[in-house]
Amino acid sequence: MSKKPLILGIESSCDETAASIITENEKGVPTILSNIISSQIDVHKEFGGVVPELAARTHIEKIDLITKKAIDKSGVKIEDIDAVAATAGPGLIVCLSVGLSFGKAIAYSINKPFIAVNHLEGHALSPKLNTKLNYPYLLLLISGGHTQFLSVSGLGKYKRLGTTIDDAVGEAFDKTAKMLGIEFPGGPQIEVYAKKGDSNRYELPKPILHKGGCNLSFAGLKTAVLKITKQVKTEQDKYDLAASFQKTVEEILYQKSKVAFKEFKNFNNNKGDTFVVAGGVAANKKIREVLKNLCKEEKFNAIFPAINLCGDNAAMIALVGLEKFKLNQFNELDHPANPRWPLDKNAIFLKGSGVRL
Ligand SMILES: Nc1ncnc2c1ncn2[C@@H]1O[C@H](COP(=O)(O)OP(=O)(O)OP(=O)(O)O)[C@@H](O)[C@H]1O
Ligand SMILES: [Mg+2]
Repeated sequence: MSKKPLILGIESSCDETAASIITENEKGVPTILSNIISSQIDVHKEFGGVVPELAARTHIEKIDLITKKAIDKSGVKIEDIDAVAATAGPGLIVCLSVGLSFGKAIAYSINKPFIAVNHLEGHALSPKLNTKLNYPYLLLLISGGHTQFLSVSGLGKYKRLGTTIDDAVGEAFDKTAKMLGIEFPGGPQIEVYAKKGDSNRYELPKPILHKGGCNLSFAGLKTAVLKITKQVKTEQDKYDLAASFQKTVEEILYQKSKVAFKEFKNFNNNKGDTFVVAGGVAANKKIREVLKNLCKEEKFNAIFPAINLCGDNAAMIALVGLEKFKLNQFNELDHPANPRWPLDKNAIFLKGSGVRL
C-alpha cells in the first residue's frame, strides 16, 4: 500500500487564523486529521468590522501556535507532511502575507513542495470534504466578499455565469445586522432574529430580479433596510425586519439560481445536474432549505459543505493542496500574495453604478 499524501493547509486571508492536516483513505476520499480555527471576533468587536492591521497582527501572534496545534492533534510528525498549502489570495494583503510567508517557511524547512491556494477554490471544493462531487457542477458561491454563479469543469477550470454587480450577499447580511444594532459579526444572527419575526411585515426590493441573467444586486436592498431602520422602535420591529430581509434574499437566490440552472445547462450542452452552494452564507439553514426545494423542482442534485466548513477554514485550503499535489502542481517560494484573484480570470469586471445589464 503506497503512503497517502499528508497535506498541511494554512489560512489567514481575513479574520480567521486556521491550520489543518488532511489526507485521503484507500478509496481516495479526503480525510480531515485536524482542523483548527482561531477566530478574531473579540479583536474586531469594538470596531464593528474587521480592522486589517489588527487582523494581521493577530495572525502573526497566533499562526505558529495554531499550526502546532493542528500538527499535534493530527498525530503526524512535521517531517512526514508531504506538502504545505497556504492561501495566497484573494483577501486582505496584510493578512494573506502572514499565512503565505509562514507556509513557505515550513515547506522550506522540511524540504517539501509549497502550493499557493486560491481561497475561493477552497470554498468551491469544500463539499468534497464530506461528499463525492462530479464535474461539471454549478457553483453558487455566497460569502462575505463574493456572490457568483460559476460552472466548474475541473480543478482550476471555472466559467463565471453571473456575479453581484455591487455588494456580496454576506456583506448585505452583515450590514443589515449592523443597522439593527446587532453586535459584530451579526450576519449569522439575522437568521436567529428572522425566526421570531413576520417576514411579510416589510416589502423590500429585489433589484434586477428579472433582468441581467443570473447577475445579482444587493445594494438597493441594503439601502431600503437602512430607510426602514429609522422607524424601527421595538425588538419585534427588528425581528420583523430581519425576517423580511431573510425572505427577500431567499427569493432572490431562488429566482437567480433558476436562471443560472438554464445558463449552466446551455454552457455544458445539457451535461451536469449538480448544484453546489458554498461560502459562509451557505450555513444559513433557510437558504439551504429553499435551494434544496428548487433543486427538487428542477431535478438538480443539491450539495452543501458541512455547516462547520462553510466559513473560512484551512481544511478546504489543504483539500485544494491535496488535489494539486496529486497533479504535481507546485509553486515557487517567491509566489506573491494576490489580493484580487478571481476564479474565472477571463470574466470581465462587472461592478459599480452604470453597469449595463
Ligand atoms: N447563518 C448565516 N446566515 C447568513 N450569513 C451568514 C451565516 N453565517 C455566516 N454568514 C456570513 O458569511 C460571511 C462569511 O463567510 P466567509 O468566511 O466565507 O467570507 P469571507 O471569507 O469573509 O469572504 P470571501 O470568502 O468572499 O473572501 C459573513 O458575511 C457572514 O455574515
Ligand atoms: Mg471565505
